[in-house]
Amino acid sequence: MKILVTGGAGYIASHTNVELLKEDYEVVVLDNLLNSVEESIHRVEALTGKEITFYQTDLLNEEAVDAIFRAEKFDAVIHFAGLKAVGESCRVPLLYFDNNLTGTINLLKCMDRYGVKKLVFSSSATVYGHAKEMPITEEAPLFAMNPYGRTKLIIEDMLRDIYASDNSWDIALLRYFNPIGAHESGDIGEDPNGIPNNLVPYIAKVAVGALDKIHVFGNDYDTPDGTGIRDYIHVVDLAIGHVKAIEKLSSNPGLVTYNLGTGVGYSVMDIIKNYEAACGKELPFVIDPRRPGDAAVCYSDASKAERELGWTAKRGIKEMCEDSWRWQSKNPQGYSK
Ligand code: NAD
Ligand code: UFG
Repeated sequence: MKILVTGGAGYIASHTNVELLKEDYEVVVLDNLLNSVEESIHRVEALTGKEITFYQTDLLNEEAVDAIFRAEKFDAVIHFAGLKAVGESCRVPLLYFDNNLTGTINLLKCMDRYGVKKLVFSSSATVYGHAKEMPITEEAPLFAMNPYGRTKLIIEDMLRDIYASDNSWDIALLRYFNPIGAHESGDIGEDPNGIPNNLVPYIAKVAVGALDKIHVFGNDYDTPDGTGIRDYIHVVDLAIGHVKAIEKLSSNPGLVTYNLGTGVGYSVMDIIKNYEAACGKELPFVIDPRRPGDAAVCYSDASKAERELGWTAKRGIKEMCEDSWRWQSKNPQGYSK
């Protein structure tokens, strides 16, 4: 089976490519390298001993995307490509609407034109907004909290409309909780540009000495230690979830939606403690005010994915921190040496 992986040089996609290649899928990557480097693709090839066809192409260039569909005969698409920084999306919403929405529309037009109607889409727990009830099930109300979240919600809505109009599509909406960690080899991992926005990449930079201290955004939440609680999921477990979703699409399920999380919440302080154990040093931190827009608690009910995909996250918080640290310490500058 030949799979088009959009955004295939990025963090989650590179780990997914490893799992796809291990299962003998043929992988074709489309990425404009806006937030990634080609080296990640070479690392995946080295790890798996298999080749990836790579097109450095922008989804905004519909003609170029069409040419790829003409040249290759895809069986399915996993659509990771998109911009993902919440704060940036508030500053430049049009950039996010153009890149994420127009890019997706171009992709869907090509899929429709070439009769490729199996799609796995990278959605996010952000579509639940500030959920009132924990754990969050797939039936919880949907709400966009910021322009980034709005692009995810609009794309989900577009896909529901497309499926309603033509039920020969098979679509899996995967709502990720908080992906962290790296492949156990330490050869691929998360390599954000500039100062990281997310907690674990930030901690990793402090641990490696590139940043001086961790900023804990609020310790006055209504949680056991006062810091925010999230459902962190090991990126390799998440990657395996995509292989399970591709398998599911072969049975023509129509449009299906799954939370991919562990169902367990950890606080910011839990993560710092586990990271300290992983890297073997104390990590300095300060308590800052809450970050606007942050929820106190967010964790999944991932039992639907277990029932219907036979998937469950296996790796715990210790492995998540150890694997993140292995990647960061082996690659202090990320992919660029
Ligand atoms: P990433 O930035 O590492 O990967 C995204 C890739 O898409 C990058 O390689 C980038 O160069 C590429 N890209 C962006 N716009 C493009 C375009 N117009 N044409 C071609 N390529 C383009 O991010 P990631 O963390 O691997 O996230 C992958 C997907 O998962 C994204 O859609 C993101 O919104 C979603 N997601 C991520 C998280 C998270 O915390 N990492 C959580 C929920 C959902
Ligand atoms: N936090 C800090 N210090 C930091 C960064 C984060 O204390 O430097 C805290 C936050 O307040 C929060 C927790 O750590 O309590 C996790 O924050 P992240 O920024 O790592 O992750 P978020 O839960 O805010 O958001 C992430 C993605 C979103 C996605 C969401 C759900 O950034 O795009 O997970 O999947 F929607």
